[in-house]
Amino acid sequence: MKGVLLAGGTGSRLYPLTRITNKHLLPIFDRPMISYGIEALVKAGIGEIMVVTGGTHAGEFLRLLSNGDDHGVDRLCYAYQDRPGGIAEALGLTERFVGDDRVLVMLADNIFGQTLRPTVDAFLAQDGGARIVLSHREEPAHLRHLGVPEIRDGRVVGIIEKPDNPPSSYCVTGVYCYDPSVFSVISTLVPSGRGELEITDVNNHYVNQDLMEYDIFEGFWGDAGESIDAYYGVNDFVRRNGANLG
Ligand code: G1P
Repeated sequence: MKGVLLAGGTGSRLYPLTRITNKHLLPIFDRPMISYGIEALVKAGIGEIMVVTGGTHAGEFLRLLSNGDDHGVDRLCYAYQDRPGGIAEALGLTERFVGDDRVLVMLADNIFGQTLRPTVDAFLAQDGGARIVLSHREEPAHLRHLGVPEIRDGRVVGIIEKPDNPPSSYCVTGVYCYDPSVFSVISTLVPSGRGELEITDVNNHYVNQDLMEYDIFEGFWGDAGESIDAYYGVNDFVRRNGANLG
C-alpha cells in the first residue's frame, strides 16, 4: 500500500499567513504541519510516500523532509502541481507512483489524535473499492464547510460537498483509501463549479457502485486549514495531547 500526502493549494482561508509560505509548512505546536501527515502514514505501516505540492515554496519540503530517512520513510517521492486544480487532480499526478498498488490519500492539513492503522488494516482486508474515514460533528454550520455523507442502513448512499442541509452529523475527513481503479475514475471527472476536480465526485463513484466502506473515527480530528480558529484549535489540541498516538 502506497501513501500520498496532498500539500498543495493556495491556503487562502489562512491568508495572510499563507501569502508567505505553504500552509502545510506552518507550525502545529513544535513541528511543521506536513510532518504530522508523514508520521500518520508511517505509523499506519506505509513506508512509500509521495508528497504532492505546488506554488513557490515547494523546495522547502525537500529541505524539511529530504529523503525521508529522519522520518522513518523507506521511499519518499515528490510531485509538483502546476496549478491548484483540486484534490482529485493532485491525486491524478501520482498514478505512476501508485502503479497497481492500493493507496491511502491524506490531506496534509488534517490532524488526527490517534493512529490510522485500523483503517489501513480494514482496507487491506477489503476486496477492493474505497474506504473513507468519518468524524462526528454536532454543528450544522461546521458541516456546511465539509463533505457530508448520507447514511442509510449502515451504508453511505451519497456524499454532498459543502451541503446547505447536511444529511447527517458526520463529515468526510481528508483520508481516502482506493484500489488502483481510482485513476481511471479521475480521468472521467469534469471540473466542479469552483473549477476543480472534486474528491467527492471520486468517492460518489464508489458509493454508486456499492464499493464504498467507512470507519467512524472516534478520536480527535481537525482540519487545520479550514479557518484561523480551526488552525489554533488544532494547535491547542496537539500541544496538550499530541497526535497520531497508539
Ligand atoms: C476537503 C473535501 C471535503 C472534506 C475536507 C476535509 O474540503 O472536499 O469533502 O470534508 O476536505 O478536510 P476542502 O478542505 O478542500 O474545502
